[in-house]
Amino acid sequence: MSSSKKNNMLYIGIDLGTSRSVVSASNGNRKWVESYVGWPKDFVAKKMLGKRVLFGNEALEHRLALNLSRPLQNGVLKEGTEQDEAAVEELIGHLIELADIGTDSEICVAVGVPAEALKVNKIAIKNAISSHAKKLMVVSEPFSVAYGLGALDNTMIIDIGAGTVDFCIMHGTVPLEEDQRSILMAGDYIDEQLLRLLSEKHPEADFSLNMVRKFKEKHGFVGDPKRRVKVDAPVDGKFTEFDITEEMRRACESAMPAIVETVIDLIAGFDPEFQESVRKNIIIAGGGSQLSGLESYLTEATKQFESCTFTCIGDPLYAGADGALELATDMPEEFLEKL
Ligand SMILES: Nc1ncnc2c1ncn2[C@@H]1O[C@H](COP(=O)(O)OP(=O)(O)OP(=O)(O)O)[C@@H](O)[C@H]1O
Ligand SMILES: [Mg+2]
Repeated sequence: MSSSKKNNMLYIGIDLGTSRSVVSASNGNRKWVESYVGWPKDFVAKKMLGKRVLFGNEALEHRLALNLSRPLQNGVLKEGTEQDEAAVEELIGHLIELADIGTDSEICVAVGVPAEALKVNKIAIKNAISSHAKKLMVVSEPFSVAYGLGALDNTMIIDIGAGTVDFCIMHGTVPLEEDQRSILMAGDYIDEQLLRLLSEKHPEADFSLNMVRKFKEKHGFVGDPKRRVKVDAPVDGKFTEFDITEEMRRACESAMPAIVETVIDLIAGFDPEFQESVRKNIIIAGGGSQLSGLESYLTEATKQFESCTFTCIGDPLYAGADGALELATDMPEEFLEKL
């Protein structure tokens, strides 16, 4: 930590995600919440819920009584909707509250956001944070992951989130726009594919997006199946068992070609002398990195071009927020944008 830091300064790292938002603070607190914000629709809802605004799972549970927002859908603050901007501000306020930092410290926040949101909505995100923090920095999510892992040179980070897969090549400096790439085929896309495949194959059963996401989080895999995937779903209100192994594989693998293509493309655009070194250092982060069989599938799929080595990180939930916290703590004062 640089010597110019004030003692009463508290540092906070935030990973603002489409599906989950995570906070990690210099007081040791780490928390996460599903990225939902909801306001009671009317005075009845307000009386029933007894709150001005609800977050995460609690908001989802009461969604019928709420105006609900998932503000970072598709990696971008949905343009123009005031409700989403307000939701981001509430969400950040809530995360800072969860970090439980007390009232007498000044706070310095680094926020990692999907790379696309960084391009399009940096100002909106800054505005959303400005009411909470003294100093702030907004960076792309894969960069904060890389920073936290100390993977700063000749490394590629792939962050498989809900709304986007973000790619970033690190070469010892703050990454530039050309070092980063985002594609929209991520976790949400896999869920949609799985729902479509299952509804086509078993029209008699009632599958929902929420259900299939849970199936994926429990049983998702790519490559040859290690076991059969069996799940229960209602048919005329009665739970029935289905073997969904093939559909699960197809849905999860549907996101892979775009990932492979982007990896090859980004490396090909990199300084030839260092390409080999990046190929051996590809790190996969984000919730989607937990798909079973992912490392070997991608190693195999890239073989026809060049041999690459993929490694999934151990703690995908907190890696982004922990990295952002390190950034907030290390960043020279002049780098932070004062508010
Ligand atoms: N065990 C698991 N296996 C496969 N996928 C998982 C697992 N756990 C979570 N996911 C998926 O990971 C995605 C969420 O990952 P993450 O929390 O990194 O996304 P996010 O940061 O909210 O999204 P984004 O980075 O796009 O804004 C969701 O699609 C979720 O279903
Ligand atoms: Mg993310």
